[in-house]
Amino acid sequence: MSPFFAPSRPILEKPATHTDALKARIDPARVPQHVAIIMDGNGRWAEQHGEERIVGHMNGVRGVREALTGASEIGVKHLTLYAFSTENWHRPPAEVDALMDLLVRTVVNEIDELHQNSVRLHAIGDIASLPGACRDTLQQAIERTAANTRIALTLALSYSARWELVRMAKAIAEEAKSGALDPAAIDERTVADHLTTRGMPDPELLIRTSGEQRISNFLLWQIAYAELWFTPVLWPDFRKEHLFQAVLDYQGRERRFGMTSQQVSA
Ligand code: IPE
Ligand code: IPE
Ligand code: MG
Repeated sequence: MSPFFAPSRPILEKPATHTDALKARIDPARVPQHVAIIMDGNGRWAEQHGEERIVGHMNGVRGVREALTGASEIGVKHLTLYAFSTENWHRPPAEVDALMDLLVRTVVNEIDELHQNSVRLHAIGDIASLPGACRDTLQQAIERTAANTRIALTLALSYSARWELVRMAKAIAEEAKSGALDPAAIDERTVADHLTTRGMPDPELLIRTSGEQRISNFLLWQIAYAELWFTPVLWPDFRKEHLFQAVLDYQGRERRFGMTSQQVSA
């Protein structure tokens, strides 16, 4: 048959959705390796829907799923989610308990699918401060998915950057005191190796939802040169399209690292 008649594509092609169209515009060669997200706005989402705050947190699980599948589809290797900060312990006890409960239930419900999709689960923060059931469920899930390679999903739990930096300073001081480390040899590498994110690349892109434009004690050392992306979207409404839009914006920026534009484009 003449190639002229060979249909190269179906005549009635499914129209690309807005999300697909955004995804198609992403340059696969310049996808950030590590995306970090401050998932914010669950409480306001609940309020807008006339529900209790915890209902907002429950609906936030959808945002996590969307962010994870979207990141995985475009080839992001590390997704780090700020799920519970050191400061969040000061919330009303009922909300803290409900959040911990939700964490356990979500990990239990999602772990099979995460594992099937080769997601490696990881946690950073003061994990010892979590309730026993949380720690155990998390630990089991982390061990079960340890050999997965498609994407690393890191949950920041009972985490704050200042907590992490103090811990790093103590660890380095102890090593110096014992003679295992020469203080004169301490460099950026030493610091990075004593953080909870040891071995992970720094996030190139940091997203925060809910319209707030602050860092709230998240990854202070690691985001030194991250591109920041803010959206008014509340976390339970976060979809793949928002992630793709953030990555596209990121790809449109010039990362100069202190140099001139001319140097960077040379
Ligand atoms: C983010 O949503 C989830 C956590 C911090 C645990 P919030 O609960 O902070 O929602 P808002 O900011 O009150 O709307
Ligand atoms: C930051 O959100 C912490 C997490 C997303 C887990 P918060 O809602 O706690 O932050 P602030 O208090 O508005 O800065
Ligand atoms: Mg908040």
